[in-house]
Amino acid sequence: MDKLQWAEEVAEKIIKKSEVVAKENKENIPYTTVDGKFDDMVKANFCWWTNGFWGGMMWQLYNATKNDLFREIAENNEKILDRNFMEAQGLDHDNGFKWLPTAVANYRLTGNKASKNRGLLAANNLAGRFNPAGSFIRAWNDGGDGNTAGWAIIDCMMNLPLLYWASKETNDPRFKQIAMLHADTAQKYFIRPDGSSNHIVEFNPVTGEYVTTFGGQGYKEGSSWTRGQAWALYGFTLSYIHTQNKQYLDTAIRVANYFIYNIPESGLIPVDFRQPEDCTYEDSTAAAIAACGLLEIAKQVNEKDSKIYEKAAINLIKTLAEKRCNWDLNVHNILEKCTAAYHDERHEFSIIYGDYYFIEAIWKLTGKELFIW
Ligand code: GLY
Repeated sequence: MDKLQWAEEVAEKIIKKSEVVAKENKENIPYTTVDGKFDDMVKANFCWWTNGFWGGMMWQLYNATKNDLFREIAENNEKILDRNFMEAQGLDHDNGFKWLPTAVANYRLTGNKASKNRGLLAANNLAGRFNPAGSFIRAWNDGGDGNTAGWAIIDCMMNLPLLYWASKETNDPRFKQIAMLHADTAQKYFIRPDGSSNHIVEFNPVTGEYVTTFGGQGYKEGSSWTRGQAWALYGFTLSYIHTQNKQYLDTAIRVANYFIYNIPESGLIPVDFRQPEDCTYEDSTAAAIAACGLLEIAKQVNEKDSKIYEKAAINLIKTLAEKRCNWDLNVHNILEKCTAAYHDERHEFSIIYGDYYFIEAIWKLTGKELFIW
């Protein structure tokens, strides 16, 4: 890839801002900002699914700068997550999102044995969520939504790399086999013929039979929640990278082509590609995640196709850099206009994984990336 001057300049701005912001957030784990300052999930919910992204951001920044401040904060984030291992209700399919960017990243960079141990504990727990009847990994534990024993969600594709990593580390194929069985189920039941994806699929947890789909965090059943499309696009690409099973790449490409076709002229991504026309809700996280996935697809396909995916990714990221980034050093977040779910009361705010994937995408473009997934 040619050197992109604008991306180099954005990388410099990220580092400059992060050096200031990190100093003010050494002990907390942020989810969002309140009046421009990061909140603290250690106090609010130490098991929350996003609690690995701050550590992941710090490892990406450490990898690029070798500034020990970033490493120390990442190590602290990883240690805080240990409490989660003693809270069974707070362990779910998101173990990948929590421990890949923290413990496994640490282990990859430093060989730290305690970090490897944490990664393997998280992987074993994730593997234990596999339901052989329906051949899927159960997403959440029962809470507000009633009985969710039969629920699987597309986001889980991003958690599978924890299992691929565990198989390699332990020389035990079980983890990888479980990941591939889940990916096969996701291909069959989540990805629609047009390349769009369901968010939630319910199976009968006893017989394994398909029951129904739910719109989940998107607009409605049968709609097209953009972050879910992005998880599918990136997640299937990762399953291909870890297994070399060509079907996963074909699926990722199908979702990618659908995603690219639906990008509005503005280059800014709505919360749902099928939300009502008069609704302007955006989700910048979907743009950043999709860009990361598209850049990985670009590395797996022929030269001509590679340019298509690279160009689409660059357009998404450049649009975010020009229109949706906040470079004020007094404001902690970078990315603006992120949305967790279409039907939430709150829309278009800062969310930590938006910042994480934006940085990951800029790092991919500038050669600074630590490969986390
Ligand atoms: N994995 C949950 C979400 O994307 O909001």
